[in-house]
This record gives sequence, structure tokens and C-alpha cells, in this order.
Amino acid sequence: MTAMSTLLIVHHTPSPTMQAMLEAVLAGARDEAIEGVEVVVRPALAATAVDVLAADGYLLGTPANIGYMSGALKHFFDTVYYPCLDATVGRPYALYVHGNNDTTGAVRAVEAIATGLRWKRLRDPVTVIGVPDAAAREACWEVGATTAASLMSS
Ligand SMILES: Cc1cc2nc3c(=O)[nH]c(=O)nc-3n(C[C@H](O)[C@H](O)[C@H](O)COP(=O)(O)O)c2cc1C
Repeated sequence: MTAMSTLLIVHHTPSPTMQAMLEAVLAGARDEAIEGVEVVVRPALAATAVDVLAADGYLLGTPANIGYMSGALKHFFDTVYYPCLDATVGRPYALYVHGNNDTTGAVRAVEAIATGLRWKRLRDPVTVIGVPDAAAREACWEVGATTAASLMSS
């Protein structure tokens, strides 16, 4: 039997726009071609250090808020940072961010904390400005699929 890996998706989803992005991410992560990867989905305000310790990789989703990640995702990091600091070194992560004008600060903020945790950035973040078009939804699907597929055991 194939060993199971776990992908933890930690997201803050405060609007229909971001719900659409999350659904595309989940469709990618749960694609039937990906085997042996359990997908665990947690709103950022409900995710715990236990969730983080139990996972093999992470997919983070946030809006840009005042030039930074959302307070909800920041709260998640504040909660798990020290409990997970030693145990999760080297684990892969990816990121998607939605904004209405500029996502730069939010991306920089998440990458700074992930660097502190010594997580391994799997790929460029997906950043979407405004209403997600077909290409944006496809990019969300793809970050879900590639992050989950990276955890398939060979
Ligand atoms: C308090 C607040 C601050 C925000 N700051 C930014 C920001 O700095 N950059 C940005 O691109 N969008 C910003 N936004 C827009 C949000 O990122 C956006 O509302 C969120 O991604 C959901 O998208 P939607 O409102 O189009 O559904 C902000 C929204 C709020 C409510």
C-alpha cells in the first residue's frame, strides 16, 4: 500500500472572490491523478500547531490587507511558529494571494515568516489582482495540483 502524505491548506477566505480561488486550488489538489496525498483544509483562524506538525507540506492562501498578509494568516503563524520551529524544517510550501491593487507586501511577509521557519519554497506564488479570470483560476488549480503532486511518494 502506498504511504499517505498530507497536504495542509491554510487559507483566509473572506469573500466570494477568494472562495472561487480556494475552490480552484482544492480542485487541483484533489485531482484524481494525484494518489497517496490526503488534503486537509483549515481556515487560518482554526488551524493549529497539531495540524502543521501532522502535515508534510503546506499551501497558504491570503488576501493582501494594508500591504501585508491578512491578520488571520498572521495569527496562524503567531500561533504555530515556536511549536513548529524545529519540527518542520525543510518542508515545502506554496502560496496564493489575492488583492485589489498590490500583493507585493503580502507575498514578502509570508515569505519572510516561511524563511524563518526554514520551509522550502516550492514555486513562485500565485498572485491575482481583481476579479479572477480563466487564467487566474487555472493558476490556482495548478498551484493546488503541483503542491499536492510534490508530496506523492515516488
Ligand atoms: C482592510 C483592507 C485592506 C486591504 N488592503 C489591500 C492591499 O494592501 N493590497 C491589495 O491589493 N488589496 C487590499 N485589499 C483588498 C483585499 O485584498 C480584497 O478585498 C480581498 O482579496 C478579497 O477580494 P474582493 O474584495 O475583491 O472579494 C484590502 C481590503 C481590506 C478590507
